Amino acid sequence: EKGGHEYFMLKEIDEQPEALANTLRGHFDGGRIILDEQRISDQDLRDVDKVFVVACGSAYHSGLVAKYAIEHWCRLPVEVELASEFRYRDPVLDRATLVVAVSQSGETADTLEAVRHAREQKARVLAVCNTNGAQIPRESDAVLYTHAGPEIGVASTKAFLAQIAANYLVGLALAQARGTKYPDEVAREFAELEAMPAAVQKVLSTVDQVRDLGRRIADSKAVLFLGRHVGFPVALEGALKLKELAYMHAEGFAAGELKHGPIALIEEGLPVVVVMPSPKGRAVLHSKLVSNISEIQARGARTIVIAEEGDETVRPFADELIEIPAVPTLLQPLVSTVPLQVLAAEIARTRGYDVDKPRNLAKSVTVE
Ligand code: F6R
Repeated sequence: EKGGHEYFMLKEIDEQPEALANTLRGHFDGGRIILDEQRISDQDLRDVDKVFVVACGSAYHSGLVAKYAIEHWCRLPVEVELASEFRYRDPVLDRATLVVAVSQSGETADTLEAVRHAREQKARVLAVCNTNGAQIPRESDAVLYTHAGPEIGVASTKAFLAQIAANYLVGLALAQARGTKYPDEVAREFAELEAMPAAVQKVLSTVDQVRDLGRRIADSKAVLFLGRHVGFPVALEGALKLKELAYMHAEGFAAGELKHGPIALIEEGLPVVVVMPSPKGRAVLHSKLVSNISEIQARGARTIVIAEEGDETVRPFADELIEIPAVPTLLQPLVSTVPLQVLAAEIARTRGYDVDKPRNLAKSVTVE
């Protein structure tokens, strides 16, 4: 059942190319992005003037990634909210608000309550869910299923990647409805998504190097993660994986925040994982991160750099370099997250913990 893997989580990490391909399949047909269920009119989708993404944990991080894509593609304001905060505030919602509820299980209590609250305020709700017929999709106006397959490991891996892909599809569906992207542009973005399973497969070939690194840093007291733009939610996800699996103190930061506090944490030998944007994307993002890495390295950090293959500028500042394939900037989280999953699992394994069943955690959080 674990298919020769020591843990379900490692099997599920390996299944990510397939999970992505299955999530994309069937969602683009006749030149259009297709949802699985749509109980709202195309007109209603076109009239959306604000998007909230509500979710918990890793699903929330997938929403943070989506914000960059949806704002860019649809020219719509996007707020990403922890479901547990959203539901106890008084968020401003109306008929023209689209609430995207992202949940692997489709049963997460806070996310479900956020959906109910949104619908009471007349907002439309679109569920992104991995579980057919779960409560959240049942109570939503539209549904896009991720087809990651059942996830046994408590820590989300393939479901997370599938959530990111599905959220991009939601963004493209909105862009298509609103006309902010021409049909040929939507088709081109979809084709770029279709190239991602192969890119993720390529990252999986670096697993041995990452595991070796994990064993070497397994006795660290803490690990920091830095990123910018879409690399920021990846940093948050890397830190969450390490907390939940290795019970290690880990924090993710927006690299631009370093000087506003976190740089005080840097001390000799502290591992800091940096998610580098593509040097071929927004040049300013790349150069800002290079200077961030040089600053923390000068203060003694042990820099672990996830960078695009062929990114030579970053080499002098990388104590450890993990290469990922070149992909479009917005899609990079689909490849840059993978080494962080492997790293966390290997550190946990080295420390003697059960990678599939971390202490105190349940796969589906149906109570608050
Ligand atoms: C982290 C993890 C959790 C879930 C969160 C939401 O690895 O698995 O943070 O992402 O509990 O769960 P769903 O997506 O089922 O609503």
